[in-house]
Amino acid sequence: MKDKNIVLEPANNPSFQTFLETLSILPAISPLSNKLFTIIDDPNVSISVIGGLIGEDPGLASRLMTVANSPFYPFSEKVSSIRGALVRLGLVTVRGILLTTSLFDRVKHQPGVFELWKHSLGVSRVAKTLANRTKDVMTSDEAALAGLLHDIGKLPFLIFKPQRMENIWKTGPRTGKDSDWELEEFGLSHDQLGGRLLTQWKFPEIIRDSIRWHHQPDKCPSSSRRSAALIGLSDTICRGLGIAHADFPYLDAPLGDFLDILEIPGDEIIPVIQGVISDRDMLETASREIF
Ligand SMILES: [Fe+2]
Ligand SMILES: [Fe+2]
Repeated sequence: MKDKNIVLEPANNPSFQTFLETLSILPAISPLSNKLFTIIDDPNVSISVIGGLIGEDPGLASRLMTVANSPFYPFSEKVSSIRGALVRLGLVTVRGILLTTSLFDRVKHQPGVFELWKHSLGVSRVAKTLANRTKDVMTSDEAALAGLLHDIGKLPFLIFKPQRMENIWKTGPRTGKDSDWELEEFGLSHDQLGGRLLTQWKFPEIIRDSIRWHHQPDKCPSSSRRSAALIGLSDTICRGLGIAHADFPYLDAPLGDFLDILEIPGDEIIPVIQGVISDRDMLETASREIF
């Protein structure tokens, strides 16, 4: 059922717009996941019921356990039950992980997709660290989730025109913003499309807007401007260190522009960058484990 209050950015390309409308009616997820996403928002549904549903799908259950016990969530004790994983990660995060991995599953065999996945996990990790170092921007859980989902808007392009995307990614690197050629090719850029998907999926505003504006935080019209800058900065750090996918090496802005919006001094960022460098091997291993 369509919610009349939801405004979705349209694609200025008729065939891609039609494809998106189909994608919104038939989300790229299994019937079980669909049911799960419907009930996971209901405050009256208990964790046991949600855990029971996840338990019906061994693939989903084992993936959730892998994520909860991965080095991304460095808790001292491993969780051994779905319920434990749900409590540890929180329902909004679990929903985000399941949606992301369901969409990635549809394109995982295509060239460059593993790099995009690793990039998403890298940005999630950096965003979480930055959120812990900055005050009043977003919680570390919100930052980790927004980082994980920030480039989700690229996946529908891969589902819509896999061969075309493979050719485009193969010919990189080029100059110019990825958002610019996406607009030309599909009539909607991945940041716009990410915002659109997260609106449809009813994610909280802070997550949605930080993804919609991660390449242009200065244009973010809502109070999520600093959150968008935090995700944009995390993205820029990862791309700058080569934790990027087969895309274009264009950096949106000098680091200083993001730091200005976030109101944090440049020297605060050095230990964050050093942390990313020392976490590289862990990132590779964790990305493979979950992928
Ligand atoms: Fe992006
Ligand atoms: Fe990115």
